[in-house]
Amino acid sequence: MIPFKTGVQVVGNDFCTRPAELASLRELIESVGRVYVVGERRIGKSSLVAEAIRPLHKMKSVFVDLMALKDLEDLTHRIGMAILASETQQNRVIRMMRNLSSLRPSMSIDSLTGAPSITLSPGTGNRLETLDELFALVGQWKRTVVVLDEFQDVLALDDSRRVLARLRNLVQTQPNVAFVFCGSIRNQMEDIFTHQESPFFNSAMRLQVGPLDRHLFRQYLQTRFESGGRKITEAQLDTILDACHENPGHVQRFCISLWQATSAGQRVKENDIMEAWRILFGMQRDAYELVLTTLSPQQTRVLRTLAHAGGTSGISSDFVAATGITLAPSVRKAMVALVARRLVQKDQTTFCISDPFLSAWLRQQPA
Ligand SMILES: Nc1ncnc2c1ncn2[C@@H]1O[C@H](COP(=O)(O)OP(=O)(O)OP(=O)(O)O)[C@@H](O)[C@H]1O
Ligand SMILES: [Mg+2]
Repeated sequence: MIPFKTGVQVVGNDFCTRPAELASLRELIESVGRVYVVGERRIGKSSLVAEAIRPLHKMKSVFVDLMALKDLEDLTHRIGMAILASETQQNRVIRMMRNLSSLRPSMSIDSLTGAPSITLSPGTGNRLETLDELFALVGQWKRTVVVLDEFQDVLALDDSRRVLARLRNLVQTQPNVAFVFCGSIRNQMEDIFTHQESPFFNSAMRLQVGPLDRHLFRQYLQTRFESGGRKITEAQLDTILDACHENPGHVQRFCISLWQATSAGQRVKENDIMEAWRILFGMQRDAYELVLTTLSPQQTRVLRTLAHAGGTSGISSDFVAATGITLAPSVRKAMVALVARRLVQKDQTTFCISDPFLSAWLRQQPA
């Protein structure tokens, strides 16, 4: 079995520890605090929060994913479903369904698996008062932690300010509930929590998630390769960590390819690492080509130039010249569009291609 995981939250043995972040997050949660967790995509925010909560048996946890939130109804339904999912005992779930009657929940049994599944009626929950009802229910529990993941996507709602103001009010009046807000779009998260005009101004502690400790992560990876009879050197792991910008999600993705390029009882060789790149590009090519078809010619040029600059750059005059686009504002506009598409991440004045494999693939392509 491949000992690497990607695209899922990792906890327990699969979680390479982050002692400092875990300790401070746990302390904040146990003291019924409010904290916002920021970090680039796939850096491990959701895993960190899940691992922090895991041993806190006395706390009930409600995990709400707000990625690509559409409207108020979508928000209340996601919170409602997360509340129901926080309970495993069926009689209690049924009681909760009664408490959530304004969302008209119904339970059905899957004819194939026999597992119960709950749905909420479309057209319900599109009033702000529904948020009050949901939080009143959570507030009755003894000790709870509510995690609102990809929280910045609330900003995409038409009436985001009103919704944020209501949420802020509800968050403020919950003495038994800890709140963790996670987000991968840093500037939007900072806007929510640090702008004076935002309802959430200064309302939560900040926790930044960066790369894993290199030494601990190397050990974690080495142990996994060894579990399948593969030997990999620290220098080779350093090369991989650098190529993946030390992003654990990307590193694990690369390690899956390297695992497939090797077999038990061997030492990893340079050729195997090249082969792992080929496997990765082979798997990703269709998706990457599809991405390019959706970009304007100027956006494509800017993305390619960024890739050739090593994946990270500011918009300097040299950069503008390298794009071959005459006007700097056009380059800026194309870059902003790439950021909006989440293909590129902005950090103050530098821009970075979110997926280092896309960046490496673009560098391989003929100009
Ligand atoms: N502590 C860790 N130990 C080992 N691998 C990790 C760790 N944290 C993250 N990963 C790797 O990164 C992947 C993404 O983790 P996670 O979903 O927690 O990140 P995220 O920052 O929440 O991502 P997103 O921005 O997509 O929500 C995991 O599937 C795993 O491969
Ligand atoms: Mg996440």
